[in-house]
Amino acid sequence: MKTDYQFLKVEADHQKVLTVTLNRPELHNAFNDDFIAEMTELFQAIKKEDDIKLVLLKGEGKSFCAGADLNWMKRMKDYSDQENFLDSMRLSHLFQELNSLPMPVIASVNGATLGGGTGIVAACDYVIAASEAKFGFTEVGLGLVPAVISPFVMAKIGESFARAYFLSGERFDAHEAMRMNLVHKVVKSDDLESATLKQVERFLRAGPVAQREAKKLINGVLEHTLKLDKEVHEFTCQTIARVRTSDEGQEGMSALLEKRKPNWSQQ
Ligand code: COA
Repeated sequence: MKTDYQFLKVEADHQKVLTVTLNRPELHNAFNDDFIAEMTELFQAIKKEDDIKLVLLKGEGKSFCAGADLNWMKRMKDYSDQENFLDSMRLSHLFQELNSLPMPVIASVNGATLGGGTGIVAACDYVIAASEAKFGFTEVGLGLVPAVISPFVMAKIGESFARAYFLSGERFDAHEAMRMNLVHKVVKSDDLESATLKQVERFLRAGPVAQREAKKLINGVLEHTLKLDKEVHEFTCQTIARVRTSDEGQEGMSALLEKRKPNWSQQ
């Protein structure tokens, strides 16, 4: 399996655990189209590996993932509607690939996890976070919506928290993320590495074939009950393709990148 990537560090160990580290620390691991393509390629390759027992996801540097790279999102204004939609579908595809990996996936969240970063976390099976980690569906503050990630996030947090946090864009801490079912365990930053290893060991005690069957079971039940099907993903991609090229979306992304308040903000 290919392990040499620009934005990912990929390391296998003797226990058949594959550690994947998001590796663009200068931009807090925000993902652009190339980064998305790399992650998708890797997850597709992992899916075919019968020998990997567990995938551990981490973030290099201060943050876990600052979501979509706003420079990339802003560029969509110059693309045709069709190209914009297809580009969103590539992002959706990435989350679908991660969500459907056959083996357990644990995320070890070291720091800020915003926008699409929360989508990555939502598509994992077990999430352990440092108490200092900050989360947020910050999109509305940028004139955007958490569209592509919403099926994965809402499957975890439900309608009530989605209404509260998708609409306020408010950031929240790891304890609140745990209350929302986005995170399963919160530990002190200094203990994150050891607590993550302990959790990995707990998962490795299970029968690997049964674990894959359990995951198939969960995803199968969800597909039937939540209708996490092609139509849902097309709907979310049409939504973000429209919103990110809107005047408000363009203004919100520019404001964040230029470190100023957007023109609709009163404060
Ligand atoms: N896309 C593009 N660039 C981003 C980014 C993103 N999602 N998130 C951070 N950056 C850039 C900043 O613009 C800054 O660039 P600069 O060095 O050219 O000024 C650089 O990363 C460092 O960010 P900074 O805000 O100075 O670091 P910080 O440690 O104070 O805060 C974050 C880190 C992640 C908490 C903060 O950058 C943040 O809140 N980012 C917005 C994330 C977000 O809302 N994502 C949702 C996108 S839909």
